Amino acid sequence: MPLENMKSMLKKASEQKYGVGAFNILDYNSTKAVVSAAEKLNAPVIIQTSTKTVIYWGTKAIMNWVLELAGESIVPVALHLDHCKDISLIEDCINAGWTSVMIDASSKPFEENLSLSRQVIDMARPEDITVEVELGAIVGVEDDIHVKEQDSHLVNIEQALEMCNTLQPDCFAPAVGTAHGIYKGTPKIAYDLLEEITSKIDIPLALHGGTGLSVEVFKKCIALGCAKVNISTQLKYAFIDGFVSYHNAHNTEYNPLKELDSQFRALEDAVIENIKIFGSEGKA
Ligand code: 13P
Repeated sequence: MPLENMKSMLKKASEQKYGVGAFNILDYNSTKAVVSAAEKLNAPVIIQTSTKTVIYWGTKAIMNWVLELAGESIVPVALHLDHCKDISLIEDCINAGWTSVMIDASSKPFEENLSLSRQVIDMARPEDITVEVELGAIVGVEDDIHVKEQDSHLVNIEQALEMCNTLQPDCFAPAVGTAHGIYKGTPKIAYDLLEEITSKIDIPLALHGGTGLSVEVFKKCIALGCAKVNISTQLKYAFIDGFVSYHNAHNTEYNPLKELDSQFRALEDAVIENIKIFGSEGKA
């Protein structure tokens, strides 16, 4: 199946109140695990790349893996660029065949965020590429974006409405109390903000900072309009632990394909677990 953008995937998810998993991949093995998990559950899926991953491998290599894996896939797959502040990298990904991009200008003053987000939408829309924009400051570290606890702030509702009404992005990422990375305490989610946004704006929302949220929190956020759910840190752990645990248990073997297979299964299990929680099983 050719790659899709996020539009019809997220529209259907919003209408039927489930979440499409957006999983940050690291290499060929992790991409294969994400696609394989989605196929096993007959679920739509979003393959996400951080800007660091794109810079590490280059757009061509990533595009080759994704096209090979998604091209033969029976489920809808989108390739999305996660949090990107660099317009020229966004342009490179669009030119290379990414079907969706995120412009993260959330650290800029509101008017500048609007203007940069508009610039990306103007660039992407004629190519049928979907665009996610962000407002507010999500605490934690994601790629080269570091937001300290004291600098984090929830989305401002008036600005959220203005941003969504004027730009009409394909997906909106409001800061609602989740965090990138491992949670230190119990996250306090601003459900009232989510509710207010979805009651006033008909645009699918993205839930960032998925790793470590409880099943109950996921389900509540999805019911309140989060049609895209991001998971990255959990896959970083599965990537390393899957490899290392095999090696530790067989430390005289030195047969790397076995470590890679163990890594693949750890990643696939993590993606399967999340797709089941998000309710997108059988929705391909
Ligand atoms: P986690 O790393 O907390 O899963 O967050 C992922 C994310 O939101 C990527 O943008």
